[in-house]
Amino acid sequence: MVRDMTTDSPTDNSKLQARRSFLRGGLAIGGAAAAAAATSGAALANGDPNILELKDWNQYPGDGVDARPYGAPSEFEEHVQRKSVPWLTADPISSVNFTPLHELDGIITPNGLCFERHHSGIAEVDPSEHRLMINGLVDKQLVFTMEDLMRFPRKNQINFLECAANSGMEWRGAQLNGCQFTHGMIHNVMYTGVPLKTLLEEAGLKGNAKWLLPEGADASGMTRSVPIEKALDDCLVAWKMNGEALRPEQGYPLRLVVPGWEGNMWVKWLRRIEVGDKPWHHREETSKYTDLMANGKARRFTWEMDVKSVITNPSPQAPLKHDKGFTVLSGVAWSGRGKVSRVDVSLDGGRNWQAARIDGPSIDKSMHRFYFDFDWDGSELLLQSRAIDSEGYVQPTKDALRAVRGENSIYHNNGIQTWHIKKDGTVENVEVS
Ligand code: MTE
Ligand code: CO
Repeated sequence: MVRDMTTDSPTDNSKLQARRSFLRGGLAIGGAAAAAAATSGAALANGDPNILELKDWNQYPGDGVDARPYGAPSEFEEHVQRKSVPWLTADPISSVNFTPLHELDGIITPNGLCFERHHSGIAEVDPSEHRLMINGLVDKQLVFTMEDLMRFPRKNQINFLECAANSGMEWRGAQLNGCQFTHGMIHNVMYTGVPLKTLLEEAGLKGNAKWLLPEGADASGMTRSVPIEKALDDCLVAWKMNGEALRPEQGYPLRLVVPGWEGNMWVKWLRRIEVGDKPWHHREETSKYTDLMANGKARRFTWEMDVKSVITNPSPQAPLKHDKGFTVLSGVAWSGRGKVSRVDVSLDGGRNWQAARIDGPSIDKSMHRFYFDFDWDGSELLLQSRAIDSEGYVQPTKDALRAVRGENSIYHNNGIQTWHIKKDGTVENVEVS
């Protein structure tokens, strides 16, 4: 267990702020609002300086419109950060950091908080010098500039990207204390780009074209074999994320989007696509990104990310800050096979389940947001969420997963997560069996 990564303890000030905004916006919520109003009423009687005293921002004009040509978050949000796990990798060049899922809501991951996974650091590519080549089993070998690509008909897609190693450190038991670290190798972004199918049709596929080898322009020379059926189905060659240019961390100026499939295949800084008639069996699909089974054999080409969910609030980095009473529980769910059709929540370690409310857009191979509003009686809880996708696949328990896959795996851990809520509202990563 990694204690020093549990941060974000609330200050009294932030508690007060939260109560004030609840009072302002919450008049229609009935019992819960009444309870909050009573607390705020007491604060008012004691002369809450946050109400009675003028602040600087009440009296002096702020920055003008020229001060922030490309905006950044409020300085009070400085604690909201991607974080790494220091002992996990030998150096930060070939490493990973994690999306702070417990600080986010809705379904879109802000660009500056998308987790990063680099095998050779961030390539700083000049788009005017960047080229995309298509070669191999095609009628015409082609080279595109960025301007060339932008002349093709465009498409927008919201998709999650999950690293196959997400939750990998949890295979043998509960270890990392925070959903940022247990589940944060995921982001959910709207991409703009040209369908890969359009570019392949421009080049003209030969009859024996069965596989593609996308290659990155970074020093790792990342390559993966992608079957032609997937390439012609829903892959995108993308240059925008959430409306703005890809961030350098995410592969600026060009990346491959492979919806629902493991993040490793989403080649960043995409420079070349070779068309072939069989897979290449490169490093990332042999020694890595394969699943070692109990009998010593490895499963290969396990591309799809199966249905999965996690409760983000409360969680170890986001403890319950109020006494018993009305409580909003929230989390995210996703499936590489389609939509999430249902999420169930258990308060007692999986004995009883109740349906959560999915809110916001429900999109194929995208993150879904769920809420579960309940009256916390102040007792200890064992919180779990279990997602079910549009194919009818049900997220398994960790025990069920290990019964099939053994103890040796790293990748494709979609087991049910348990958070132990203590009476004081603090939360710990545990396992139940
Ligand atoms: N592409 C290149 N060129 N180099 C890389 O190191 N890492 C891969 C993939 N594409 C990688 C890459 C891995 S393992 C993952 S999980 C995703 O990119 C991470 O994407 P992100 O950094 O946008 O989160
Ligand atoms: Co990865």
